[in-house]
Amino acid sequence: MTGKTSKCTKENVFKVAAVTTVILIILQFGVSSIFYQYYHPLAVLVSSKIAPVGKQNSSGEFVDIRDFIVSGQLRHKDRLGIASPSLNANASLPRKDEACPFIPPNLRGAVSVDKSIKSYDEIKANYPDLLPGGRWKPKDCVSRHRVAIIIPYRDREAHLKVFLQHMHKFLQDQQLDYGIYVIELAMPTKFNRAMLMNIGFVEALKLYDYQCFVFHDVDLIPEDERNIYSCPEQPRHMSAAVDTMGYRLPYEAIFGGVSALTKDQMKNVNGFSNKFFGWGGEDDDMHNRIVAKGYKIIRYPIKVARYKMLSHKKDKANPERMGLLYQGRKRFASDGLNSLKYKVNKVELRPLYTWVYVEINEEEVKKQLEKDHELAHRRQPRV
Ligand code: BGC
Ligand code: MN
Repeated sequence: MTGKTSKCTKENVFKVAAVTTVILIILQFGVSSIFYQYYHPLAVLVSSKIAPVGKQNSSGEFVDIRDFIVSGQLRHKDRLGIASPSLNANASLPRKDEACPFIPPNLRGAVSVDKSIKSYDEIKANYPDLLPGGRWKPKDCVSRHRVAIIIPYRDREAHLKVFLQHMHKFLQDQQLDYGIYVIELAMPTKFNRAMLMNIGFVEALKLYDYQCFVFHDVDLIPEDERNIYSCPEQPRHMSAAVDTMGYRLPYEAIFGGVSALTKDQMKNVNGFSNKFFGWGGEDDDMHNRIVAKGYKIIRYPIKVARYKMLSHKKDKANPERMGLLYQGRKRFASDGLNSLKYKVNKVELRPLYTWVYVEINEEEVKKQLEKDHELAHRRQPRV
């Protein structure tokens, strides 16, 4: 009798363990989907668990991306307070004054990258309805996102042509209200990527009321249109998987390549540091600024946040970058948008992009840095 009871108990223990495991698995899926929603409403759309990247049907067409997200879309509806886009092809289109569908209807999944270099005229011929300055917005509905693409630039014309040919189609399929800004630094000053991004932020805002800024290396070409170029609630590192890095993050805190911040987030972190001349470190400093303000950097799944890098010679690293990075925190409040000095030589609304040609004075920036150092030392109590 006793033996039978203990056998029963053992069986029960197994049963309880099995049921608990199943419950835990279900809970884990539930919690992680809530987590994704918090990150970005479209995260359900891009979750690699739900959407196999670039899946094609037997006739070689892309499977309609909306099929992947039916359930997720409906779940988000109430929380976001927006109407769910109809998944019925016969449904009426939005009116001109209505917000565009939550999921852009022409979104392709994975897209190929054409690295051939076309002339500006050839590229423009593919985009007859672009407005001067590389501006565009959907005609049939009001875009949900006003986005400025800011490109720090010098001497990479071949890359710029490949970029423009690819990006206009990519951004238009995403139904964005966007403009592309190429911020070119005049010679002979050493390249300063971060300062050019600060300048792009300020200059683009003079031209249009952007809500969202995507800071973009010209040599990175996105490979999946589900990588939506909008700004979610938290700053986003977009180029999470780059082909030359084996489609993996080289380190968890990386914030280089392509990143997205809202106007308010940019202002709140005082933009990028102006002190990084030459290659490296400025993006790591931005990572530290973002974290110091209590934001959490987010990324789309690695299967969607994919980029091809166009080939170029490796730049010379700035030997001072580590020192600047370690001292960075002391300068967050004084070095950035609020100390930005530059001279605009020209702003041109070119057919495919807005060209902002600027000068910066490296000596002046460095002198300011020395002054800041002196001040910081003086303030330190002697022991
Ligand atoms: C540099 C970053 C760069 C990263 C990846 C780091 O060592 O500081 O600026 O983005 O390497 O190349
Ligand atoms: Mn590169």
